[in-house]
Amino acid sequence: MSDLTTTILDRIRDVPDYPRPGVMFKDITPLLGDHLAFSSAIDALADGLAVDKVVGIEARGFILAAPVAYRSGAGFVPVRKKGKLPAEALEASYDLEYGSAVIEVHRDAFTPGERVLIVDDVLATGGTARAAVELVGRAGAQVVGVSVLMELAFLKGRERLADVDVRALVVV
Ligand code: PRP
Repeated sequence: MSDLTTTILDRIRDVPDYPRPGVMFKDITPLLGDHLAFSSAIDALADGLAVDKVVGIEARGFILAAPVAYRSGAGFVPVRKKGKLPAEALEASYDLEYGSAVIEVHRDAFTPGERVLIVDDVLATGGTARAAVELVGRAGAQVVGVSVLMELAFLKGRERLADVDVRALVVV
């Protein structure tokens, strides 16, 4: 196991029964609070991909995607939950365990053909990331990858992103 993997794993805290009984929440705040660990994770997420824009998915994705954009010399684009963006937006819905959710991006967030990296904290079922990939494509840009801190492999999110370069700093 690499030093970075150990550093990240040691600083993502399992919180049982949050936000609902039976769910094991992956809390990244210990990682965020540790300067060296946080900056190492950002450097790794930004590594090796030339992109024009980095998309962050509300809310925890914002915390990671903005410094990745800065580090990559790219712009930052927020993908937000429905109703939060002020200008004209495109929307995509995805299934949750109970019901569905909608995310949005500004229609004019990208110049046609721009290369885009999508960043989030956790890849679980992949529903959120899949919806973000669709949104970026419909907005006229090209998704070159989805990068996350942590992939929960047992939820098989990667299978919904078979057409995308998915990178995870740690897989559990
Ligand atoms: C979490 C996480 C990812 C998503 C992963 O966000 O930050 O965005 O779920 O799950 P999936 O792969 O099954 O779609 P959440 O919707 O809890 O939003 P938050 O960051 O605002 O808490």
